Amino acid sequence: MMPDKSAITRAVQTAYSDHAKDTGGANASYIPYLASVDPSLFGVCVVTADGDVFEAGDTGFEFALESISKVFSMTLAMQDVGLREFHDKVGADPTGEPFNSVMAVAMHDNKPVSPLVNAGAMSTVSLIPAESPDDRWEKILDMQSAFAGRKIKLSDAVNDSEQSTNFHNRAIAWLLYSGGTMYSDPMEACEVYTRQCSTLVTTRDLAAMGATVAARGRNPVTGKQVFDASLVPPILAEMTMEGMYTSSGDWAYKVGLPSKSGVGGGILAVMPGTLAIAAFSPPLDPVGNSVRGQKAVAQVAAALNLNIY
Ligand code: DON
Repeated sequence: MMPDKSAITRAVQTAYSDHAKDTGGANASYIPYLASVDPSLFGVCVVTADGDVFEAGDTGFEFALESISKVFSMTLAMQDVGLREFHDKVGADPTGEPFNSVMAVAMHDNKPVSPLVNAGAMSTVSLIPAESPDDRWEKILDMQSAFAGRKIKLSDAVNDSEQSTNFHNRAIAWLLYSGGTMYSDPMEACEVYTRQCSTLVTTRDLAAMGATVAARGRNPVTGKQVFDASLVPPILAEMTMEGMYTSSGDWAYKVGLPSKSGVGGGILAVMPGTLAIAAFSPPLDPVGNSVRGQKAVAQVAAALNLNIY
């Protein structure tokens, strides 16, 4: 059931003001650009499945999408190759290991198990049918834009920072190639994957992106059907299993909303059929999830009695 508008306004405002002064956590330091973002920035936004927007704080600030991009490329791959093939090739299980774990790949014969960590995300990119690397990149960018309801752009500054430091991901891409689960050139998949992480979104964009999942594949702000409604359950299942990295189980237990975070400080949570909650704050916990972002999302979800279980 849709909470009433005054309750949503209050929940968003309170989650913002209760945590506006919080400190704790640290910006991601392994990507130079991310280390330089102002850690005091903080935004909270809800977009409903009817397209209403509620926001507080720095919701117009553009930050790096990072790992949240995995949800949109996964959707594209599910749509283009079909759910069965996608599941067979990329999987839907938590790895139980950090998002960039080499061990998680090595333990599974150099095959991915989840599209929402780096290995599976690169394999996912390689699966998207395309004429050329640029064509594959354009499809991914168009998908991000359709989800957000506005043209999403690459940040050259983020991308340069990431492409020049992504050696660990390149190693994972070669392991996958040796396991037979790279469906394009592995360095090309790694390069396109790195680009998809380097686009800029606002907290408002992120909430609209989530609301598109909440509204069964239809962007409630633009009215455009972005993907087929039949993909919603597997998208939400994947987000539940691995969307918050190694805290995904704890998050499901405590908050109960399928979610996805990124090391840029963004978090997106979806209450199917109802609304999406997005938050942004750069300092992360050791697992890689925004400290304040988690508090804000959890507080809005609790205040509105949203929990899929
Ligand atoms: O692969 C990386 O290291 C980043 N471009 C994205 C990382 C992120 O948000 C957490 N990872 N899955």
